[in-house]
Amino acid sequence: MKSIITSRKGIPFFHEKTAIEFQKDIYERYQEMVVRQSALHLADELWGKYPFQPVFDFTEKHYPKTAEINILEIGCSVGRWISTLAKRYPKATTWGIDYSYQMLKRANEFWVEGKEISIDWTNKGLPKQFIKGERLTNLKFGLAKAENLPFDDNSQDLVLNSFLIDRLENPRKGLEEMYRILKPTGKLIVVTPLNFNKVEHWKMYYPPIQLSNILKEIGFGIVDWKEDIIVNEPLDAHENIVSWKCLGFVVKK
Ligand SMILES: C[S@@+](CC[C@H](N)C(=O)[O-])C[C@H]1O[C@@H](n2cnc3c(N)ncnc32)[C@H](O)[C@@H]1O
Repeated sequence: MKSIITSRKGIPFFHEKTAIEFQKDIYERYQEMVVRQSALHLADELWGKYPFQPVFDFTEKHYPKTAEINILEIGCSVGRWISTLAKRYPKATTWGIDYSYQMLKRANEFWVEGKEISIDWTNKGLPKQFIKGERLTNLKFGLAKAENLPFDDNSQDLVLNSFLIDRLENPRKGLEEMYRILKPTGKLIVVTPLNFNKVEHWKMYYPPIQLSNILKEIGFGIVDWKEDIIVNEPLDAHENIVSWKCLGFVVKK
């Protein structure tokens, strides 16, 4: 594993994030982004059921059968998915990597330090939530970029990400990094709404057949492919939603 450059509040940094990078990163905006992600991923009581359950339903059958494995989620935000796997595989080493310190701080406080957090989405008409965290001993969080992962070649059994690859500056580089760190027996699971922000990304990765060709060029073999996973992201107390039509795929080295 690459060496730690610095650490803040128990979060190791594998990337030296400059003040300008902090300012430019929308995911460092606490009120707008961290509260929204916390409400979405940590406050199931607000919604009756977990809005990302369709992602879990797609991926469930692809989880490994062995116990002592290395699992990594990239773009983990507040850590819901990777914590679920840390609990399911107590003998595994699990890492959640993100580029946002604010997200990681929230994730670490909640899933590792066991703190009680408050989620104040009252400006969306929702009641304030107080939720007690957990103390997972096999889970770590760290700051790194998907395009430059701090893990060794052939080191991970399972690599996951959701709503990430269409946000990357260079999605292909991110996918190549995921390939590099996967063990020869490992699997990569990706769920993405393909909601690119750049013209060149639409040209390169869309329609999904183009993305599948790039995956094959990198060296991946397709194990599963589903183009209509619907995730309804709640927005407020009036049950307004954003409905995301996601591509989910599972690939092996
Ligand atoms: C749209 S959110 C998705 C969060 C969560 N995975 C989900 O599905 O709700 C994107 C997340 O990816 C992180 N992210 C963005 N660019 C990244 C990069 N280059 N490397 C690692 N994480 C990144 C953001 O900080 C944010 O937490």
